[in-house]
Amino acid sequence: MGANTLTVTDNRTGKTIEIPIENDTFDPMPVRQMKVNADDFGMMSYDPSYRNTASCKSKITFIDGDKGILLYRGYPIEQLAEKSTYLEVAYLLLFGELPNKKQLDDWVFQITHHRMIHETIRGFIDGFHHDAHPMGMLISSLAAMSTFYPEAKQIHDPEVRKMQIYRLIAKIPTLAAFSYRHSFGLPYSYPDDELSYAGNFLNMLFKMNELKYKVNPVLEKAMDVLFILHADHEQNCSSTTMRTVGSAHADPYSSMAAAAAALYGPLHGGANEEVLRMLRQIGSKDKIPEYIKRVKAGEVLLMGFGHRVYKNYDPRAKIIKNIAEQVFEVTGKNPLLEMAIELERIALQDDYFVKRKLYPNVDFYSGIIYEAMKFPAEIFTVLFAIGRTSGWLAQWQELLTDPEQKISRPRQVYLGPSTRDFVPMDKRK
Ligand code: SDX
Repeated sequence: MGANTLTVTDNRTGKTIEIPIENDTFDPMPVRQMKVNADDFGMMSYDPSYRNTASCKSKITFIDGDKGILLYRGYPIEQLAEKSTYLEVAYLLLFGELPNKKQLDDWVFQITHHRMIHETIRGFIDGFHHDAHPMGMLISSLAAMSTFYPEAKQIHDPEVRKMQIYRLIAKIPTLAAFSYRHSFGLPYSYPDDELSYAGNFLNMLFKMNELKYKVNPVLEKAMDVLFILHADHEQNCSSTTMRTVGSAHADPYSSMAAAAAALYGPLHGGANEEVLRMLRQIGSKDKIPEYIKRVKAGEVLLMGFGHRVYKNYDPRAKIIKNIAEQVFEVTGKNPLLEMAIELERIALQDDYFVKRKLYPNVDFYSGIIYEAMKFPAEIFTVLFAIGRTSGWLAQWQELLTDPEQKISRPRQVYLGPSTRDFVPMDKRK
């Protein structure tokens, strides 16, 4: 094998440079010296939407898109979904190792006892219109939280960071549940510290006048596993947003409000809500071929299919499909599931999708389970945000402690007009 370098020749000038290869990547800065004229700016790499650009070094999550592999700190997602809990996985993502008994007990104690939100934040949620989208309420409430914890700006203090991490993981289910209750004109159901993370979330969503909410263990486990599956996914759009805003040294509440805003997009976390809308729009199994035709004509997307990285079945979709069976034992079959299974069967045989390596992603089945659990479609992305909170915070913390990271500030290829003089109004066309 030759030298561990890349040889780059600018054929315009014949100039050649050697760039060291590290981790199968190269630093593009040296090509800045490649110029035709002495006063040229020099060359840059151009990679819109970062299709082939590593923005950071990370030890948190590994994805092999071709093999459909997903590891959190080296542990396969399938093992964590089966054997762990969401709070244990959150600890793993944030601190790098599975906690011992004492570490886990302390961690769960802290998260459990930070679930309440300041009553004034409740006032924010009360102020939204009755039909405000829960994601709009969540994004705003997260940003508002930065005004309650000004010390959070001390982002270089590990103890201050840890306290904000406790608060955000603990309070985001409360914010989500209060937004949900507000949308339905229901009184808020406050946290019950005797219940698990997922159990308490269901309690805050669905408790009515009974003295104590009775958690269904199957739905509690399904919710906890869904949080695990959504916990992190390396440099996805919302985690990149968390890192970008965090790189400016904004506080974690403001950074996470930005990340949640990115997740709200229908191409990202908003896809699960769109899958339900698509299935309803198709209407019945016999209408699927007609919809597939529209997809192939480029008129519509097959929501819940395709992925920037996975060019194989999303391992999370496989696990979610198994959870669906357990949930439907409790909630009863969901006709949309039959349609989704038929849509998947047809798509996986169709050359249009096979050629483009379009497989079901995490969003394809999650929406159907959420609907069976009586969640309205508008809250699906909020459920995604709850799980992803630990991943966003782990990526944020890794960014702040990485000596190679600075404020994110990409360059551009300028194709606009060159210098020209101002045109007075009477001279304009
Ligand atoms: C998530 O990054 C992450 O990790 C995200 C996520 C996470 O955990 O954070 O995994 C969660 O966001 C999952 C994705 C949810 N989004 C959707 O389900 C929306 C529908 N999917 C598409 O919008 C799309 O697949 C993306 C946005 C997910 C990926 O977009 P890319 O990278 O542009 O897709 P591609 O380049 O691989 O597409 C290749 C071809 C293109 O067609 P051609 O130009 O080659 O003819 O496939 C087409 C695309 O137009 N295509 C689709 C399609 N997805 C891609 N055609 C129809 N339906 C689709 N869903």
